[in-house]
This record gives sequence, structure tokens and C-alpha cells, in this order.
Amino acid sequence: MNTETFTHFFRDVERKVDVDSIRAQWMALSPHYDVGNWVLPLPPWRHRPYEDSGPRAWEVLQNEFAKGASDNPFCIYLHIPFCSSKCGFCDNYSFKLGSHQQQVIQGYVDLLCDELKLWSRQGNLSLRPVSTIHLGGGAPTFIGESALRQIIECCKGHFAVNEQTELALESTVQSLTPTMIQTMHELGFRRLHIGVQTLQDDVRSLIGRRNPSVNVLQTITRTLELGWVVSVDLICGLPSQTLSSLIHDIETLIEYEADGFSLYEYLVYPQNRRWSTQHGLTHPERHLSNYWMLVAGATLLESRGLTKNLFNHWVSERDKNVYFTFPTRGEDLLAVGTIADGVFGDYHYRHPRYASYLKSAHSGFPGLEGGLRHDAAYQHIHPFIIGVQSGTLAPHLLPELWTFKAVDGTSLVDRWIRCGLVSENDFGGLDLTPSGSWFAGNLIAEIASYQPSSDRYSPTLRKHDLSYST
Ligand SMILES: C[S@@+](CC[C@H](N)C(=O)[O-])C[C@H]1O[C@@H](n2cnc3c(N)ncnc32)[C@H](O)[C@@H]1O
Ligand code: SF4
Repeated sequence: MNTETFTHFFRDVERKVDVDSIRAQWMALSPHYDVGNWVLPLPPWRHRPYEDSGPRAWEVLQNEFAKGASDNPFCIYLHIPFCSSKCGFCDNYSFKLGSHQQQVIQGYVDLLCDELKLWSRQGNLSLRPVSTIHLGGGAPTFIGESALRQIIECCKGHFAVNEQTELALESTVQSLTPTMIQTMHELGFRRLHIGVQTLQDDVRSLIGRRNPSVNVLQTITRTLELGWVVSVDLICGLPSQTLSSLIHDIETLIEYEADGFSLYEYLVYPQNRRWSTQHGLTHPERHLSNYWMLVAGATLLESRGLTKNLFNHWVSERDKNVYFTFPTRGEDLLAVGTIADGVFGDYHYRHPRYASYLKSAHSGFPGLEGGLRHDAAYQHIHPFIIGVQSGTLAPHLLPELWTFKAVDGTSLVDRWIRCGLVSENDFGGLDLTPSGSWFAGNLIAEIASYQPSSDRYSPTLRKHDLSYST
């Protein structure tokens, strides 16, 4: 694509975003980085097979707890894979239930609570402060008020949940009814990730959103009035979406005082490929327009004073994004439920897909699929990985990072600066630029490939490897 196409793409937003800066960011990248060839930051179990089976992983973890290691705060993540219907565009691990919905939900919630109780009996886990309880999905509110209450009461009854613990969940407007919001507030929820995707009603109906954007904005207002922190998810690259509509959405949401913004490129995986093809979203050229959208959105957010605390999440002062930023605080993550992956110290474990989870989780065993420990090579680059994921490489990491050389013998950091992927910040560290946000996974892969050690950690998987489909 040439600069004429760029100028045409940006024609309607010239007065809203700094188009010259976006053009400069794009030009700095070329020809070194291909925007279609980016990767997401991936967890270690995506790079190499588990070293322990599920039952063995549980033994390893129990031994760790028995040694009585940490008394630091930790996070709790619960995965709720259910939704009222499966949206064609969605790449998450979630599904619509068939018959006997209430029974199925109750069975799953009971299993989650059994699992929580099991973990709470390990070492000093029940005594360590909980920094956040985060429910992801799916649409966790779909399970209804009483199931939500059961889960939160179970957490409160078995772990050291305190006044500082942030209770948060991800959901859609559809199931955030006034009664649900009221129940959530009573239970102590003070943070909402709302899947807005887009505020354009024509695009919303194309992606199967049943509620018009006015309902989204009402829900944001209602929850902000209750004192919650509200973060919005927006996708770049939906069918019929234009750059000016994305910019308009961001401006509207800033006006409505949303605290945080997650920007996602539209991803095509096996589970949404058919829908994506039907809507013309599989053309390779789309990566470039999606990249331009993301960079424009990020540039706008940053020009309005929002800063990054995760590679694709921009925040105001109020949004601490406690769950997603746990590695920057060196916290552990207790993850519970199907496909949930957690980490204690340098040991990662993961749960299997739903049917296997139902079969394997039982009294005395949390239904794990497998586990693995950081190897020496991963351990060495771990602080750099966390830095890139959080959007900032702290000053103390730089002396070593400057020694990393790319294949042509030039400095990796120099190359990143030249290509506009990072910029020096006021504190002597490096911040990911909007282009750096797009290429966060590639930066991690480069750190791994160019670390000056013979024992290299080599992440080779590409974005479609994240797919949960078999
Ligand atoms: C766990 S989902 C929860 C969203 C919530 N259930 C909803 O429907 O709005 C988290 C976010 O993943 C993002 N997402 C879903 N499908 C995606 C796709 N194909 N590509 C990129 N992001 C996607 C959406 O922005 C969504 O809000
Ligand atoms: S977008 Fe949200 S509601 Fe739709 S299927 Fe995905 S998780 Fe469920």
C-alpha cells in the first residue's frame, strides 16, 4: 500500500488525530517490520509442551505450598465460559448452553467453589491478601445473581478478601440489568470491563449486538455513578467499521468518562473463520488498515492524557487494571475453571477445555491439564517480557538490553527506536509506542532470540496458535 492509500484512509480524521505523526510511525516501521506478521505475547505453555501432567502438576504445587513460600498478595481469576448466544466474531473460549441451563450453570458453579475450597487448604493461601477477584469469560453475568453471589461468598469465606481487594468482571450490556448491577454492587464489585466493541449501531447489528449503543452509554453512566471503575473493550477491524467511527467511539467514551480502554485488532481463529470470511475479514490487506486504526486510536488516547499500563490498555488515573498487571507487582495468580491458567512463583499450570474439566475436577483434584516451570532461559528474560507486556521497560533493565544485538550486529534497542517501536521516557526507561503495542509479541520474541546467551528461549508460535479450537 502506498501513501496515497494512507492519505485516503485518514481523510476524515485529519482534525481529530495527529495524522503526520501516525504517518511517521508507519514509515519508520517500513521496511523492517511487516504489520501482517505480528504475534501476540504468549504464555510459556504456548512455547513448549507441559513438563508435568495435570495430576503431577498438582503434586508439584502442593509441595511448593507445603514449603510455605510466599505471603505476598495474589490474584484470583475465575473463568465463566457461558454466554446467552455465541457471537460469530468472538475468539474467546465461550459458548451458548443448550437445555437445562440452570442445572448446567449450577453444576459448574459448584465445581468452581469446590476448586476454590481445595486451593484454600493449600499452605498459607487462605491467609495471603487477595488483590483482585476477576471473573472473565464468556459473559460472567449470564450466570445470574444467585450464582454470582455463591462464587463471591465462597471467595470471601475461604480467602483473605479485604477492603482493598478489587472485584471485577468482564461483561456485555445485555446481561448488565439494573438488578444485576445492584447485586454486583452489594457484593463489592467496583470494576467493570464492558465489551463495547463499537458504538456504531449498524456495525453492532452486523456483529450481533442486540442492544443499541445508547444502552451501552447508559450502563457506563450508571456504573460510574456508583463509583465503579469502567473500562471499555474496542475492536479495530470489524465489518463496515471505519476509522472515523472508531475515533468517534473513542471520543464519545472519553466524554462519558470511561476510565480504561483496551484496543484489540480483530483476530481470525478457526472458531470465527467462517463468520470472518462471510464478512470479508480474512483478506491479508486488512492487517494494515487494522494497524492504522489501532495506532490512530492509541495516538488519540495518548493525546488526551491516557497512559498505557498494559501493551494494549490505556488508562486514566483511576484505572489500576489490577488483574492484568499482576506480573508487574510480582504477584501469583490463582486461576480456577475451564482453560484458566495460573502461576505460582515460576510454576505455571493450566486447566483443560470444558468437557475434560467437568470430568477431571473432583474432590481432591482441581482438574488441571498440565504444568511447567520457567526454564533458565525464560527466567533470564522474564523481567523484559513483563516490561514489554506492561508497555514500559524500566531503567534498570536497559544496560543489559542495550547489549542485545540483532542478527546484523546492530543494537536491538537502537533498531526499536529507529523503527519507532519504543521511545525514551522521562524516567530513563523505554515506553512502547502505538506501533510497539501492535508488535509487543514480536519484541518479546526478539528479546528471546537476541539475548546474548547460548541457552536461548525461542518462542516461534504465531497468533493463530492461540486458538482454543481443536
Ligand atoms: C472475554 S471477551 C468478553 C466480552 C463480553 N462477553 C462481550 O461480549 O462484550 C473480551 C474481549 O475480547 C475481544 N474479542 C472478542 N473476539 C475478538 C476477536 N475476534 N478479535 C479481537 N478481539 C476480540 C472483545 O473486545 C471482548 O470484549
Ligand atoms: S463476544 Fe462476549 S457474549 Fe459474545 S460470544 Fe464472545 S464472550 Fe460471549
